[in-house]
Amino acid sequence: MDAVTVRRDGTTLLDGISWTIRDGERWVVIGPNGAGKTTLVHIAAGRTHPTSGTVSVLEEVLGFTDMGELRHRIGLSSAVLAEAIPPHESVLDCVVTAAWAVTGRWREAYAPADLHRAHALLIQMGISDLAARTFGTLSEGERKRVQIARALMPDPELLVLDEPAAGLDLGAREDLIGRLGDLAGDPYGPAMVLVTHHVEEIPRGFTHCLVLARGRAVAMGPIAEVLTSELLTRTYGIGISVTNSQGRWSARGIASS
Ligand SMILES: Nc1ncnc2c1ncn2[C@@H]1O[C@H](COP(=O)(O)OP(=O)(O)O)[C@@H](O)[C@H]1O
Ligand SMILES: [Mg+2]
Repeated sequence: MDAVTVRRDGTTLLDGISWTIRDGERWVVIGPNGAGKTTLVHIAAGRTHPTSGTVSVLEEVLGFTDMGELRHRIGLSSAVLAEAIPPHESVLDCVVTAAWAVTGRWREAYAPADLHRAHALLIQMGISDLAARTFGTLSEGERKRVQIARALMPDPELLVLDEPAAGLDLGAREDLIGRLGDLAGDPYGPAMVLVTHHVEEIPRGFTHCLVLARGRAVAMGPIAEVLTSELLTRTYGIGISVTNSQGRWSARGIASS
């Protein structure tokens, strides 16, 4: 992204963001509520155009490329997409239809290879026993895993996850983060961008961090350089202590003296 700005109804959501994700990097995007994280990653996923600035994704320049084809190369999991999944759709259908980047595709169109891949992804996400269940009957944690299997279905070159662990209980969260850590550590895996509010939700293997506040990039770079107590204290306006233990992060408020 080069000087990307997004304005909606007179409000500036993103203000002059320049950001490069290189092959093999796994990025975390953090920042306060309303900072523009979802807007930013939807642009990265080829779902939204900026008001001004230039975006190129996977060597295609937005505005000069077939967006349908580009979206097919990018896996996206976000609450907005989850809302579009019909509650009566089966888990297997949810995943396999993503081969065409649509929801509610007709069954006749399935190819055996697609069904095979969908089953393999359900196994990878630990939900193969849910294949025949309808999406509407799943728990929040199960839904999140279905969404990620869905995002992985087209074998994307870029995987964008907007708050994948939001609303999960501790067990479901840790299970999901472990699976995302495996994916992040796979050298043949896609480039990844993960939005989260909680540094505890950063999987192992994430290499870079972008901190967004009020539509501006406060900091970006290698994760250990960016995720510091000093920067988070400045960004959130409250004393915060950040630690890393065995590849996992945690943060807590500290009393101001
Ligand atoms: N159409 C719109 N008009 C005005 N403001 C909007 C519009 N859409 C989103 N916003 C605002 O833009 C800000 C950034 O939204 P979002 O990207 O969802 O932030 P985040 O994901 O970091 O919470 C929020 O304050 C939101 O209320
Ligand atoms: Mg958001």
